[in-house]
Amino acid sequence: MQGFLIEGTKELKGEIRVSGAKNAALPIIAACLLVDGEVRLTDCPGLSDVYSSVRILGCLGCKAKAVNGEFYADCRDVSKDHIPDRLMRLMRSSSLYLGALLGRKGSAYVSYPGGCELGQRPIDLHLYALEKMGAKITEEHGVIECTTPGGLHGAKINLSFPSVGATENVILAAVLARGETVIYGAAREPEIADLSEFLRKCGAKITGDGTSTVRIEGVSRLHGCEYKVMPDRIAAATYMCALALAGGGLCIDNCIEQQLTPVSNVLAEAGCDVYFSGSRMYISRKKPLKSVGTVRTMPYPGFPTDAQPLVTAVLAKCRGTSIVVENIFENRFRLNSELVRMGADIKTEGRIAVIEGVNELYGARVMAADLRAGAALVCAAVSAEGVSELGMTEYIDRGYEHLEDTLSSVGAKIRRCII
Ligand code: UD1
Repeated sequence: MQGFLIEGTKELKGEIRVSGAKNAALPIIAACLLVDGEVRLTDCPGLSDVYSSVRILGCLGCKAKAVNGEFYADCRDVSKDHIPDRLMRLMRSSSLYLGALLGRKGSAYVSYPGGCELGQRPIDLHLYALEKMGAKITEEHGVIECTTPGGLHGAKINLSFPSVGATENVILAAVLARGETVIYGAAREPEIADLSEFLRKCGAKITGDGTSTVRIEGVSRLHGCEYKVMPDRIAAATYMCALALAGGGLCIDNCIEQQLTPVSNVLAEAGCDVYFSGSRMYISRKKPLKSVGTVRTMPYPGFPTDAQPLVTAVLAKCRGTSIVVENIFENRFRLNSELVRMGADIKTEGRIAVIEGVNELYGARVMAADLRAGAALVCAAVSAEGVSELGMTEYIDRGYEHLEDTLSSVGAKIRRCII
């Protein structure tokens, strides 16, 4: 099994540059399917999910490649509308190819998407919205067949929950559809605004992205462009939490302050000094950590569910009692039992975790249950007494470009190995 061998250290020190955001790059790559021209993305992270996306575009007849932080696609010759099950299972965001394929080809044959096991991850909102736009959808044996007998048309769509993926899927389906689509109750995550900005650069007409009402006026064609992917706010949060746990001082470059406020507020309350200067953030911790009351995950601009496991690892070492309420994904607490193996005192019931801070975490043999749980265990192990063996690190490679090298460059001792 792939793993990391992590030796605990006392301080992190130095500078890290945050890469482009996975959760922005993946929908933008899916959006390339809609573009009648060449696309070049810069700051595109070299992640296994990005390489899976390249494979999906390739199997649909497009030219695509990702090298050295750049991504290229030419989807002028999309020839297929069928994504094989083995590719759909590689990641959750493969669901976005439904909207993109319908927009481009008018039909799509896909199976249910894979991705991290975060509990139930239905796509009912995606399907409801696409049906309102004229798609005829049948599901049998895990295969979703979508056709658009009368073509895709604009519609008024009310999302009962601000789902990130459903909002993105509707935008993808709507940019080339006939007429106007309005999404009420849209998710407001910055990655949706980044997808919209990319599409606008290709000629799409989208307004209101980043608010809960998004309007899309269909156009007949999108042209190619060059685009820089927004910074990864969850990667930034990961380095912040690693620092909070280990102590020391870091400069984290390529950050957007407003997007990190929910995380920086919690870490400041726990005893870190955080300040921003332009796109750079300086974070240090010199004193022991203290508990923070209650952290509740919420849709943006609330506290991000993706950062919850990372902050939970920090709270494990905060003197006093902290409470975490997970409102988005029920299985986000699978990290807690691993933290307990490292000496943490965490009681978990349903969506609530009660954390009694301990003075030290200790090296142990632990497993990454998913991407962010894995990253959180890396942060915990970096600050623990002794050596940890972390297994299932392929999850981590889905969202971080060599996390072990990035943290090692600022003083952590992490080695990739087979365990
Ligand atoms: C995206 C992010 C993920 C992040 C999440 C919430 C990507 C590639 N992934 O995931 O990292 O944790 O947003 O910020 O961008 N739901 C339904 N029906 C649906 C769709 C969603 O019930 O049709 C529920 C889900 O089960 C979940 C909640 O809504 O409980 C949030 O899901 P959603 O916002 O759609 O997350 P993703 O787009 O899957």
